Amino acid sequence: MKQKKIIVCDAIHEKGFAILRAEKDIEVIDAVRLPKDELLKIIGESDVAITRSSTDVDEKFLNAATNLKAIVRAGVGVDNVDQDGCSRRGIIAMNVPTANTIAAVELTMAHLLGCARSFTNANNHLKIDRVWNREKWYGVELCEKRLGVIGFGNIGSRVAIRAKAFGMEVVAYDPYISASKVTDLGMTYTENFNDILSCDFITIHTPKNKETINIISHDEIAKMKDGVRLINCARGGLYNEEALVEGIKSGKIAFAGIDVFSKEPATNHPLLDLEHICVTPHLGANTLESQEKIAIQAAENAISAARGIS
Ligand code: MLT
Repeated sequence: MKQKKIIVCDAIHEKGFAILRAEKDIEVIDAVRLPKDELLKIIGESDVAITRSSTDVDEKFLNAATNLKAIVRAGVGVDNVDQDGCSRRGIIAMNVPTANTIAAVELTMAHLLGCARSFTNANNHLKIDRVWNREKWYGVELCEKRLGVIGFGNIGSRVAIRAKAFGMEVVAYDPYISASKVTDLGMTYTENFNDILSCDFITIHTPKNKETINIISHDEIAKMKDGVRLINCARGGLYNEEALVEGIKSGKIAFAGIDVFSKEPATNHPLLDLEHICVTPHLGANTLESQEKIAIQAAENAISAARGIS
């Protein structure tokens, strides 16, 4: 029997590899450390590809992937997969939608607390600069502050529940849900985006698409409270990055917690030069638990997709 080829383009948990390698009818190609141009040279051999956020499934990728029948995105976001391009070529695109929910929720909580207490800055000041400065790093409390949640799906709703447990008043904006999903939790539902802009803290949990790119930009920041704190653990570019830089520089935004950038890896981004920001390198899905679950589900999906191919 001819083996089906599954190529793994980005790092996944070893358990995913083990599941793939255990199948006799599957040949596994480990392309995790290959530069993109090298990947494009071999992608044409594969029947199924497993990708994460480091591999853009764009026109170039799809043109080179002449045998590809399915893409399994090991994660929730499919914004870096050209879905129209896949459909035109009859390539099925699937994701692993819920395995990293808790990981993303908990990182958001870390950024929320980081935005309130600047402990990443205080940590660097003490550890790197060896400065013991208790005055510089005064924070604010989450309790009794208003948190605006944009997107009340799997992740946004769980962030909201945790924030409420900290005593925050939650206001949620999500045109795709019924108000009762929010109000049943004792939170405020709004259809007026300005209600979000008037919050003390704002966090976003939407997919990245035409509707949501730059949903927060210069005009929205201008309408915000002085000293607002913004968190983005969803996708880079949902908050316009130039506006964010400007807002932080001017002091309008007191602090931002940012896990994602419009271009990644982002090692030379103007946001990195600012003091009032805590940044992480797209760690939302990176817990041992979530990566194990994602890799297992991605591997199983990839095997089914490969076997479905005649
Ligand atoms: C996701 O969309 O689930 C994550 O961004 C995946 C990843 O970390 O690559």
